[in-house]
Amino acid sequence: MKEPMNVIDRFQPGELWPDTDGAHINAHGGGVLFHDGSYYWFGEHKVAGEIGNTAQVGVRCYSSTDLYNWTNRGVALAVSDDPASPIARGCVIERPKVIYNPLTRLFVMWFHLEGRDRNYRDAMAGVTVSERVTGPYRFVSAGRVNAGVWPMNAPPEDRRPLDADESAGLTKLELLGGPSPAYPTNLIYRRDFAGGQMSRDMTLFVDDDGVAYHLHASEENGVLHISQLSEDYQRPAGRYIRVFPGGFHEAPAIFKHGGKYWLITSGCTGWFPNAARLAVASSIWGPWESLGNPCVGPRAEITFDGQGTFVLPVQGHPDAFIFMADRWRPENAIDGRYIWLPIQFRAGRPVIEWMNGWDLRQLD
Ligand code: GAL
Repeated sequence: MKEPMNVIDRFQPGELWPDTDGAHINAHGGGVLFHDGSYYWFGEHKVAGEIGNTAQVGVRCYSSTDLYNWTNRGVALAVSDDPASPIARGCVIERPKVIYNPLTRLFVMWFHLEGRDRNYRDAMAGVTVSERVTGPYRFVSAGRVNAGVWPMNAPPEDRRPLDADESAGLTKLELLGGPSPAYPTNLIYRRDFAGGQMSRDMTLFVDDDGVAYHLHASEENGVLHISQLSEDYQRPAGRYIRVFPGGFHEAPAIFKHGGKYWLITSGCTGWFPNAARLAVASSIWGPWESLGNPCVGPRAEITFDGQGTFVLPVQGHPDAFIFMADRWRPENAIDGRYIWLPIQFRAGRPVIEWMNGWDLRQLD
């Protein structure tokens, strides 16, 4: 039997990160679930070249007990060979996140899903479930979210679908998924009321009371939605808010510390890095307050050439959290790197400082 390599004892942000077989970890846009004494890292399996920006394989899973040494546990969610499937090979599966539902005893994976050759127009959430943490996950649904539901923080006078003039005005605008002066801050959720709200970059969060939330870039990326999930975590519960209308936040990652909800997002510049953004709230339903860029050190203004994907609570250390980010390589997607950095609390506020290398003893 091959001896597993169990040799890593330091995080080296941005470097190649070999798994226990010696291959660079392939779990981009990922998230980590802690379950039964192990950490499970789920992420986009990317192949070489530009085609690697589409899903050719699916979602890969790794496990670890020490956070440094990760064992490849195979493909948790495989793309389908049936071209009619919503998760047919060549679609886009991004930012998969897995949570465990104690009522159904199912692991539930949500991800951002785009149909093949749709150029990100679908903006759907995909949902899959499995009895086993490592999969195989089976398809539950794919679509937009919260159809027929008004946001909890929409003023009563705005709770109406677009009229003909508003609709005509909106179709004339070119909405490119990034900030633009013409962005109509209060029209798109009304446009999408009947068909469901758009869902692109996303994460999941389970609160202390077991209630889970889906946080996702919506309304052509201009508004972040925070949406409560049903008890089985497989669909929206029909309660959601709009956060930072017109703010163009992507790459949401959230954690709870000191009784507060801390949200780290990015701006909206595609694969190109930009400054991370920190926000805080005492209730997940807001109000959310912007606190600016939490990163410090070289290239802090572009998140160290990365984009956040998850905040990982370290087990047994109530004050220890790791900021996980991706350094994308869109021209050769498989070569994307990971930036894991500790979140430090300075004057009660999360700060992410660049380090060439660090280990968990620094968290004590
Ligand atoms: C980024 C997003 C990635 C991916 C990419 C595609 O802004 O965070 O997950 O969707 O755009 O250009």
